[in-house]
Amino acid sequence: MAKRVTKAVFPVAGLGTRFLPATKASPKEMLPIVDKPLVQYAAEEAIEAGIDELIFVTGRNKRSIEDHFDKAYELEAELAAKNKQDLLRIVQNVLPSRVSCVYIRQQEALGLGHAVLCAKQIVGDDPFAVILADDLINHDTGVMKQMVQQYERHQCSIIGVENIPRADTGSYGIVHGERASDGLHRMDGIVEKPKPEKAPSTLAVVGRYILTPAIFSCLERVQAGAGGEIQLTDGIAELLRQETVYAYEFSGRRYDCGSKFGYLQATVEYALEHPELNERFRAFLKSLRL
Ligand code: UTP
Repeated sequence: MAKRVTKAVFPVAGLGTRFLPATKASPKEMLPIVDKPLVQYAAEEAIEAGIDELIFVTGRNKRSIEDHFDKAYELEAELAAKNKQDLLRIVQNVLPSRVSCVYIRQQEALGLGHAVLCAKQIVGDDPFAVILADDLINHDTGVMKQMVQQYERHQCSIIGVENIPRADTGSYGIVHGERASDGLHRMDGIVEKPKPEKAPSTLAVVGRYILTPAIFSCLERVQAGAGGEIQLTDGIAELLRQETVYAYEFSGRRYDCGSKFGYLQATVEYALEHPELNERFRAFLKSLRL
């Protein structure tokens, strides 16, 4: 019988060195874009896609993520006593009640592939989503919802990709494949950070995946690379040899919020869309006369 995607893994155990010192004691996934932390945008995208079990792979200094999704008794009592109903609703509705959270520790930051492997026992024998909260993607229909629709049609792993300038291939995993239908490519290869002249295409893997559980045995076979890291890309390269895997060119505008520049771009776009801020913020930007 066809299986549904009901679980999402959020690897949030990276060191976030590009954002030091902000990430010295607090995780980069808690950096806010306007008024919500990155990890909440990621959780909302999963929930919109019908996912109701959120699995966070955490590391040191990540307690604030657990606290964020936990009930905040004192704060709620304080807001209720002061009759601040709007704020109370915001605090209480961080997650709908049907959604549950699980936290697993990645003892050492041994790479994204290793972080995903840490979720093996909890995921079990089901297809699952992986969302990297630092890749924030803005679209009316969330990218994970778009990908779940593709999964339901094809019942195989789906890797979210973006067409990038050839000069940038050295910063991404790049896929190779044959165009299957609009936006979908049947993958036959994936390489990590190729030089522009060596890149097999300009389709770059960004932080959205739907994976079948076969990925776990593939990751277990992957040899650790430089720095002892296990790359998810290598696990996907192995998976391709066993199963059909599609790359999906999603609709939406992506911001790399793990980098300062992407983070600032996202902040500006989301502030311009924010109902409380948009007009004032637009006027402020104009006043800068750049
Ligand atoms: P990045 O490549 O952005 O690494 O990880 P990083 O350590 O978080 O950040 P920089 O490069 O030092 O600034 C991509 C995603 O994989 C997670 C990160 O939390 C991020 O969401 N990750 C990475 C882990 O969970 N564990 C790891 O061992 C590595």
